[in-house]
Amino acid sequence: MKGIILAGGSGSRLAPLTTCTSKQLLPVFDKPMIYYPLSVLMQSGIREVLLITTPVDQDRFRALLGDGSSFGIELSYVVQTEPRGLADAFILGADFIGSGPVTLILGDNLFHGDGLSTMLQDAQASNSGATIFSSHVDRAERYGVVCLDGTGKPVSIEEKPRVPKSNLAVTGLYVYDNSVLGIAKTVKPSARGELEITDVNRSYMLQGSLSVTQLSRDIAWLDTGTAEALLEASEFVRSLQHRHGLQIACLEEIGLQRGWLDIQMVEKASSLTRSSGYGIYLQKVCDNYKK
Ligand code: TTP
Repeated sequence: MKGIILAGGSGSRLAPLTTCTSKQLLPVFDKPMIYYPLSVLMQSGIREVLLITTPVDQDRFRALLGDGSSFGIELSYVVQTEPRGLADAFILGADFIGSGPVTLILGDNLFHGDGLSTMLQDAQASNSGATIFSSHVDRAERYGVVCLDGTGKPVSIEEKPRVPKSNLAVTGLYVYDNSVLGIAKTVKPSARGELEITDVNRSYMLQGSLSVTQLSRDIAWLDTGTAEALLEASEFVRSLQHRHGLQIACLEEIGLQRGWLDIQMVEKASSLTRSSGYGIYLQKVCDNYKK
């Protein structure tokens, strides 16, 4: 399974924070936002990742993440010249995806909770169709909204409806079979000028091949698109890390746990970040590993 992270966009709701830097490079407490979606892909076992960025930000992402080898993964990059919408990922990523399935995650979405990796792996193990993940929200009109029948089958999916038919928001995590490449080509720009992922998902739904996995209330889904949401996400990460003494989205730790990195590589990363809390944590990871 390959993974794509969409980390372009304009980040207009965060201006002026995003006037001269990418939203997905802004901090969520102690690490850049992009670490969080990347950790979700890695924890599900994905090692081949394509990062889609704006032209101006690509070099900064490369400076931060390189070719991914310091986390035990293969990272490649593609530029999106204009924010043409989420479904553009399958047009820009067609060569990378090739003939297999793909998992897409939005670069500004943060997920946390036991069970998420298993749910994602279950979706990835299914050979055909698409799986989206829904989360119960208060103000559904701000999201893509899916409505299910009594058996859990999706019956409608709408982008930011004025009157939502349910409280189930479509989160920024999606698993598709290879037919997504053909479907994305047929999507036309919406009234707001974007290639909407909701249209891709609706197309799967009409074919009867869209599954909806509902995230339980134990799994946190945080969007970081506004200043309030960004601060809330930072507070969430800070509070959980402080309580448990365990990092969320420590990429080298995940690489080590999965056997993609050896201890020397993690020690090197720790020495490079020695004076930060992240580096001190990495040193603890190494010490525990050697016990
Ligand atoms: P959005 O939050 O919908 O858009 P945005 O990031 O441009 O922010 P704003 O609404 O404040 O202007 O995007 C969700 C994610 O998808 C985010 O990580 C950016 C990314 N994205 C792209 O990479 N390309 C695109 O064309 C769009 C629309 C979004």
